[in-house]
Amino acid sequence: MKAGILTGGGDCPALNAVIRAVTFKLEKAGSTVIGFLDGWAGVLENRTMPLSRASTQHILHLGGTVLGTSRTNPFKKADKDVPRLLATLKDQKLDALVAVGGDDTLGVATKLFYDHKVNVVGVPKTIDNDLSSTDYTFGFDSAVNVAMEAIDRLHTTAEAHHRCIVVECMGRSAGWITMYAGMAGAADLILIPEKPLGIPEICSRIAKAKERGQRYFIVAVAEGVKLDTGPVTQGGAVDQFGHERLGGVAEVLAGAIEKGTGVETRHVVLGHIQRGGNPSAFDRVLGTRYGFHAAELVLKRSFGRMVALRGMNIVDVDLREATGETKKVPMDLFSVAEEFFV
Ligand code: F6P
Repeated sequence: MKAGILTGGGDCPALNAVIRAVTFKLEKAGSTVIGFLDGWAGVLENRTMPLSRASTQHILHLGGTVLGTSRTNPFKKADKDVPRLLATLKDQKLDALVAVGGDDTLGVATKLFYDHKVNVVGVPKTIDNDLSSTDYTFGFDSAVNVAMEAIDRLHTTAEAHHRCIVVECMGRSAGWITMYAGMAGAADLILIPEKPLGIPEICSRIAKAKERGQRYFIVAVAEGVKLDTGPVTQGGAVDQFGHERLGGVAEVLAGAIEKGTGVETRHVVLGHIQRGGNPSAFDRVLGTRYGFHAAELVLKRSFGRMVALRGMNIVDVDLREATGETKKVPMDLFSVAEEFFV
């Protein structure tokens, strides 16, 4: 058997754990494994590299992806690009393709399986943890730990200067990183797309806490939070999947808080720092378990499936379910965090 693997969309820690596990498991079963470079771009352009136990042995601890990634969408110009992509798979005489990605990459994989009979298995990746059908995507835990450590550091400087600091985390339509890092970092307010507070409410809570004697404040906000004036974007630029570049909500909010409360306020955008660096132990183990199960599905020729975590168990689900809806932060979790708000 010959199998290919690709990593698509925004990178995240533990992509290499998946690549390594898929390669080990398939090579042991006597299969040949190749990696496509730079996500779907590598499939369109037939750019590959051989993968082996020897070449992937020591990549587990590394962040990023040895295969590279891109946000290339072969269905953007489907008439031209889908035949190109299918031609590569034929040319490579591939029996199976493992696609590691978030909703965009897996959306492409789903269409390829259902509309073009490509033998695909999906692995859920995103620091945003917003894919339905799995309790956790790998990369999320690493990103939360980075954001939590940043918030820990902001506490000491905010306290020294008696300031408010607004910290912006990634999270487009779901606020998972902000929620977890905010809770773990004891933020005074956590603002997520699922339950944003209005600016008057935010200012009133901070002003009242100041009256009670609180000297400094940490506010965690997800980049996708829409303020009273709408979402904050980077000039309206969109990627190939039509997503606007977000960023800047913390700055707007910091200005509004300083104006509305008189508390000197600063902002910090964590941005891509959350995606970089080495994976946490949790993500290394999760990525390895996902990769193993994905390889098992390939060997069983059980295609059109995505591996998933349910509780402590690795299972697999229909690829269509994987991309069906965005997994939002549940309100029972939010209400626990809310107990600690100012
Ligand atoms: O991978 C998801 C994500 O991290 C989002 O949270 C964020 O909005 C986006 O990627 C940023 O993407 P890019 O790397 O293309 O700027």
